[in-house]
Amino acid sequence: MFKLPVIVAPMFLVSTPQMVIEASNAGAIGSFPLLNARPVEKCAEWLLEIKEALGEKPWAVNLISHRGSNKRYDDDLELIRKHQPPIVITSLGSPADVIEIVHGYGGLVYSDVANVRHAKKAAAGGVDGLILVCAGAGGHGGTLNPFAFIAGVKEFYDGTIILSGSLSTGQDIAAARLMGADYAYMGTRFLAAEESNAPEEYKDMVIESTIEDVLYTDSFSGVHANILIPSLIKQGIDPKELKPKDEIDLSHLVDVKAWRDIWSAGQGVTTITKRETMKEIIEALNKEYEEGVQELVRND
Ligand SMILES: Cc1cc2nc3c(=O)[nH]c(=O)nc-3n(C[C@H](O)[C@H](O)[C@H](O)COP(=O)(O)O)c2cc1C
Repeated sequence: MFKLPVIVAPMFLVSTPQMVIEASNAGAIGSFPLLNARPVEKCAEWLLEIKEALGEKPWAVNLISHRGSNKRYDDDLELIRKHQPPIVITSLGSPADVIEIVHGYGGLVYSDVANVRHAKKAAAGGVDGLILVCAGAGGHGGTLNPFAFIAGVKEFYDGTIILSGSLSTGQDIAAARLMGADYAYMGTRFLAAEESNAPEEYKDMVIESTIEDVLYTDSFSGVHANILIPSLIKQGIDPKELKPKDEIDLSHLVDVKAWRDIWSAGQGVTTITKRETMKEIIEALNKEYEEGVQELVRND
């Protein structure tokens, strides 16, 4: 069996310790946003629970590395220093403080980037991996084409490349490897998992939705995100009436209210058609991945 090169992406209000443990036990790499565990004492409990369950297996935490909008920034850095998660994924802001701490204990830092300018900055800062957030990704999806983004980054970077954006099947993972990525970064595929903290109605919506139900809009925070249109309709919002927001307000990154009723999913949502456990999803991905690789090397 091949090793499954998948990171189960961190999802605000959705990722749980059970998701991380199940993912990493099944051969992928689980992760969660530190802000999902509130208050900070709860977060320490989650970290201990995961550490104890996984031993030497890899797993990751996600830190919003933007001091201005993340009021927990200093506390979470301390948690990282103390509990030493093997991988820290930074989003927004500079990874510099994180790199110093994580490299100090031999861990890895991956930074999520949506354009070449940010990729260059993170690479120059010494991150171990770049997560290339491409068009169609859940949450704050990017706009770049994955082929072109990988090629653009490989011009100046030879660290680990992690591809993000609508990857949903094992064949997609094989394709990502062929394109030059080391890992596939998958969020939406796991939204409706039994262990996910998404409300039941959100999970049902993910199962029923297709690519045509996903809207890329900056109306809510000034930062573009992929949103499920049925969740807007449920809130009495007409998607056709949405206006761009003039100013960027990053508070939604840490503000529970903002994501509670407006639900995000990537364009890969079409592939999700039933409720499954993390273990079942990862077993299916494994099988499809092997089939995908075999299909490529078949000589007939
Ligand atoms: C509901 C939801 C919440 C997310 N929250 C975060 C987050 O807190 N931090 C982060 O770095 N990325 C977040 N993301 C983005 C994912 O980590 C990842 O980049 C994305 O899901 C990959 O694209 P895919 O959903 O098409 O697989 C979120 C995505 C979704 C769908």
